[in-house]
Amino acid sequence: MEQFRICGEKKLSGEYELTGAKNAVLPILAATIVTGHESKIKSCPNLSDVQNMFTILKEIGCKITKEEDSVIVNTEPINSYTIPERLMREMRSSVFLMGPMIARCGKVTLSYPGGCEIGLRPIDIHLSALRKLGVTIKESHGFLECTADKLVGCKIHLDFPSVGATENVMMAATAAEGETRIINPAKEPEIVDLQRYLNACGAEIEGAGTEEILIRGTKSYHQAEHTVIPDRIEGGTILAAAAITGGDIVLRNAIPEHMSMTLSKLREAGCIIREGKDFVELIAPEKLNAVEMLKTQPYPGFPTDMQSQFLTLMTIAKGTSIITETIFESRFKHVEELMKMGAKIKVDGRTAVVKGVNRLTGARVVSKDLRGGASLVLAGLAAEGETIVENICHIDRGYDKFELALCKIGAEIKREATQDRT
Ligand code: EPZ
Repeated sequence: MEQFRICGEKKLSGEYELTGAKNAVLPILAATIVTGHESKIKSCPNLSDVQNMFTILKEIGCKITKEEDSVIVNTEPINSYTIPERLMREMRSSVFLMGPMIARCGKVTLSYPGGCEIGLRPIDIHLSALRKLGVTIKESHGFLECTADKLVGCKIHLDFPSVGATENVMMAATAAEGETRIINPAKEPEIVDLQRYLNACGAEIEGAGTEEILIRGTKSYHQAEHTVIPDRIEGGTILAAAAITGGDIVLRNAIPEHMSMTLSKLREAGCIIREGKDFVELIAPEKLNAVEMLKTQPYPGFPTDMQSQFLTLMTIAKGTSIITETIFESRFKHVEELMKMGAKIKVDGRTAVVKGVNRLTGARVVSKDLRGGASLVLAGLAAEGETIVENICHIDRGYDKFELALCKIGAEIKREATQDRT
């Protein structure tokens, strides 16, 4: 087990180059299965979730070649239709392998992805949509056995704009006869990036990012190159790190439009923000102002993946902030850890009331999930004295060598083994 040791009260400043988006590259790596050809994916971030996806692709017979920050995936030699249970447990988001495997091979067996630290993560929307396309799904003993002799395009209304369900249907529908329309799809930038990748390989998809996505069934694909969009959540996290330490930072390789709600709330908290075509600059105020109301919403609303980081900012803001998490049912696990550092927070169901204090004090805290763990690092960067953040494997899932990246912009943080304290 590893931990971060952080010496607080260091202002962050300088330039930070964003890497490829985790939540874009994972579905795109799954989508390579649809083509049966070689794809070169550029700006592929070096994250443990991405490594897990490589392992799954190799397990079913694909060839993976790493080249600096690119990866070449050849999915022609697929020879297995079962996703190993141990790998499904490692990364529940591999549930969006269903769509591409059914499109390419007409079958796939995988274990029920199950819940994770932030919620039960049901997949009912995925399953009902795939069944509408003609997929037979047998659920027994914790496994899903999916087969489809023929997929037929149709109109599919999603009860909730689920990101993963939208991606699964987009990928499955590429092999459906005729047209498939997804009504009420997720509109995240990562959905648009998936459409861009699939179309580069020969698919015919339009409307990603809007209220309706149209997919025309395609039979022939070719090899393609694709550069993954920058990670808007990594960007938001780094801006929050500068904001909480009173620093100033320039994000390079950013797409400000993808971060507009995050930037709007950082401005409301008193940060000066300059946006350019491919950069965002944030200058923090001496003291942050509380943002009275913040509610997470599907894109383009405030992203749930930025909730923990923003809540942490509010712990030392002037005033009181009411934060409501509408997307996941247990995404406040970082709160009890922040309270060990002196934060004044009351949680009632999906709402947290955060009363700003003058300063946090360093403590030993435990990361419980990816974004909650990152927010504990932000708290440690600002806190008086030393903070230890344990269980940082969660953080490695979504941030590549987070401590090295933060040191480059002025943080005093190092990775070390967690001593057995028994
Ligand atoms: C994706 O998860 C992201 N993960 C999450 O990022 C992100 O928080 C989430 O979208 C929302 O933006 C990846 O892209 C790999 P959903 P996903 O399906 O697809 C409920 C991070 O930190 N739901 O949009 O699983 C579900 O329980 C991660 O990078 C159903 O009820 O999200 C949740 O409450 C965390 N039935 C809500 O919808 C379903 O069939 C949103 O889930 C599917 C979802």
